[in-house]
Amino acid sequence: MLNTDKILNISIVGTGYVGLTTGVSLAYLGHRVTCVDTNPDVITRLKEKIPTIYEEGLQELLHTSYDNLEFSTTLKDHVNSSDVIFICVGTPTKDNGDADTKGVEAVAWEIGEYLEKKRERPNGDSASGGTDSIDSTPVVVNKSTVPVGTQERVRSVIEKRLKERNIDVTFYTASVPEFLREGVAILDTLYPDRIVIGTDYKQAEDTLERLYKPLLDQDFKEPDAIKRPPDYSVPAFIKTDPRSAELVKYAANAFLPMKISFINEIANLAEKLGADIDQVAHGIGADSRISASFLGAGVGWGGSCFGKDTRALLYTANEYGEELGLVRQARKTNYAQRLLMVHKLQQALNIIRGKTIAVLGLSFKPGTDDLRDSPAIDIIDKLLELGAFIKAYDPKAMDNFKQEHPELQIDYTQDEYFALEGAHALMLVTDWPQFKELDFDVAKQKMKEFVVVDGRNIFDKEKLESKGFVYRGVGR
Ligand code: UDX
Repeated sequence: MLNTDKILNISIVGTGYVGLTTGVSLAYLGHRVTCVDTNPDVITRLKEKIPTIYEEGLQELLHTSYDNLEFSTTLKDHVNSSDVIFICVGTPTKDNGDADTKGVEAVAWEIGEYLEKKRERPNGDSASGGTDSIDSTPVVVNKSTVPVGTQERVRSVIEKRLKERNIDVTFYTASVPEFLREGVAILDTLYPDRIVIGTDYKQAEDTLERLYKPLLDQDFKEPDAIKRPPDYSVPAFIKTDPRSAELVKYAANAFLPMKISFINEIANLAEKLGADIDQVAHGIGADSRISASFLGAGVGWGGSCFGKDTRALLYTANEYGEELGLVRQARKTNYAQRLLMVHKLQQALNIIRGKTIAVLGLSFKPGTDDLRDSPAIDIIDKLLELGAFIKAYDPKAMDNFKQEHPELQIDYTQDEYFALEGAHALMLVTDWPQFKELDFDVAKQKMKEFVVVDGRNIFDKEKLESKGFVYRGVGR
């Protein structure tokens, strides 16, 4: 696909959502990629072409790009042959809310440990080329979400280790934040809105521009499984300094949840005023300055990024004496929204103790089995505390829920109708497409009382009310 002189050698450390999607996508574009993970089971499975996470199109890309891919449990043998080394390891939340960069720094240390003066470039001798030749100086790119300034720490850790080894070798550092959404990670990687590159080195910028050229020009053949969206053209290419790039990531992951929390606050008001939030969202979303996306009112946001990143941003802000009151309030509104769902149920049922509640949806959004910061956890926890019995169904996330939340005693059912058997109310938490098709005539035969709390505004309120259901949505 790529001319040989355009192919880069890439190492990617960490094969989670970000690392694996990036690796497989870059291999699909024609680069030679080694994915590194210390977990031998993960590497064994990937070598056997078995995806270790579920993502649409991942399986296909893994197969079609397999010749460009290598998998390894150690970075050691790949440091000196890599043009670009991506750090894509986890940055879990510390007790104080800050992001823990231990993993990132451990990879930096390894790079400093193994980087040699004399480097091998299996692609051929880059130094011999003309203006188009590849600068063989390696670029260490951080893609993990890290506090602002981490790139400087990564640089220091590598330099320190090289100094201890008495080795003088040039390398560049850069920050390239990741914006992919779970479930559509390959789509977001191949057809991004923007690519942001934060580095102080012109040469690193050139190498990364070369790396992303197929994405910037969109001249690659689209994979069958992940078609180019019809209205898509090319991404914005944003070159900036490392600190700004790091802050872009946090600012994006604070602005989007703020937008959702805003619409939820307006929804709660709309409900009291007798207005309809769907109409209001439509009305404001048509303003191109506001835009229609992320104005879906409901139970609120969850997932691996929004909660964690807003918390880490507040931690940083606090360290520098800034309040970031909007972000703080967005979080407060979001977590209160979950309990508001329980409150709506309480009002409709009068008493929750002893009642059976059918909870539909456990994952934080449809299309994934991920339960991180899922609204369902808080809602179920509260309902159990209030003395309810819970029957729950989720098309993908039940095994994870059983494993990760053994403390929450619930009955798992084989489909949504089994969950409704003998239930006094239905609590919709995740907007899986199949739930939108629920047959309420059948539901009515199965349920004991006919209360529906629609945490994602997916059901037809009037239709349900005409069938004799008590319907509670959000802002309707
Ligand atoms: C998010 C960002 O979108 C992505 O750019 C970043 O890199 C990681 O975090 P993700 O967590 O995969 O991605 O999910 P996303 O699709 O953005 O949804 C986040 C949450 O917001 C979900 O719980 C979803 O249900 C909720 N949501 C989304 C709403 O409640 N209303 C909306 O209108 C949109």
